[in-house]
Amino acid sequence: MIKFYDLKKVNQRYEAAFHEKFEQFMQRGWYILGDEVALFEENFANYCQSKHCVGVGNGLDALVLIFKAYIELGKLEKGDEVIVPANTYIASILAILQADLVPVLVEPKLETFNLNPDLIVEKITSKTKAILVVHLYGQLTEMDKIEAIAKQNNLLVIEDAAQSHGTDSGVKSSESGVGIAKAYSFYPSKNLGCLGDGGAVVTNDDDLNSIIRAMRNYGSEKKYVNDFIGINSRLDELQAAFLNVKLPDLDADNQKRREIANRYLDEIKNDKVALPFYDGSTNHVFHLFVIRTENRNELQEYLKENGIETMIHYPVPPHQQKALKEFNSLSFPITEKIHREVLSLPISPELAEEEVSRIIYALNHY
Ligand SMILES: Cc1ncc(COP(=O)(O)O)c(C=O)c1O
Repeated sequence: MIKFYDLKKVNQRYEAAFHEKFEQFMQRGWYILGDEVALFEENFANYCQSKHCVGVGNGLDALVLIFKAYIELGKLEKGDEVIVPANTYIASILAILQADLVPVLVEPKLETFNLNPDLIVEKITSKTKAILVVHLYGQLTEMDKIEAIAKQNNLLVIEDAAQSHGTDSGVKSSESGVGIAKAYSFYPSKNLGCLGDGGAVVTNDDDLNSIIRAMRNYGSEKKYVNDFIGINSRLDELQAAFLNVKLPDLDADNQKRREIANRYLDEIKNDKVALPFYDGSTNHVFHLFVIRTENRNELQEYLKENGIETMIHYPVPPHQQKALKEFNSLSFPITEKIHREVLSLPISPELAEEEVSRIIYALNHY
């Protein structure tokens, strides 16, 4: 069976280095917010060409902390509306709700699965204060258009980069002067994943950085001095050590994903399968390779019979989840179509050429 994403294999190549890090960790005897977290924050800020990185417990908290910090700064108020793509993973929407803000769902483009900039303006009201863009499946949203809208309407732009480690929007965004913060997840199956939960906020904004740095730690930057109603959400020291080992390979892994994607795009030829849009640039890191097909369950079953594991990202749109009752009566036809038709093919950097060929062969004979 070709596994969808063989986590054991992905991390096996680092086993010796992980053991070494663990030895050092035991020797130091310092378990929370130690040298490895500080080093990772420096490494990842540099990698993102940003001024600051704050390590936090997970990607959801990274988003929540950004929103809460903007509230502390007076740039957002409880009850403000935040534009968000309707087809995102539900965590983006949960973060908005957890900060007592109001998510306003906007349809994506069917071709890119990302927020459709042309549909944003009609959703803007006097209460709209931010856009949460989600670079879904690893593809950068059309940031130039988003930023133009944001500037015109005086909106903050926040990026959910949980699936897009390695795309390069940070520098561009900061140059335009739009207040920007990016939330990352290091959930094990992400392009940069740890061996547990982890997340980070990346920003060029000094104030946002210092508030989030305190807020992840009970609202306290200086021990026993609490300036904010914070939470406990710190990047774990050991997970940071593992991330320090893995980060240098991120670009090469992303390149490998793009090479596999290019083979799929060139070689899969089947009218029943719609391939994803890709502009050929490095603005896609193919966290997922998502095709669409009308008889999704049938295709998934067929691939399984042919020894190929696939997954669905995601089977139920957020607005139809029981948790989001107040959204259940809304209709988002493009989002609903996406959730009905999408199927994710294996795209691990550990896939062998021969395995990619087998996947292509199976799809071409479906
Ligand atoms: C788009 C998106 N946002 C946010 C998250 C939340 O990240 P985490 O699982 O680290 O809390 C995820 C992760 O699954 C995600 O895919």
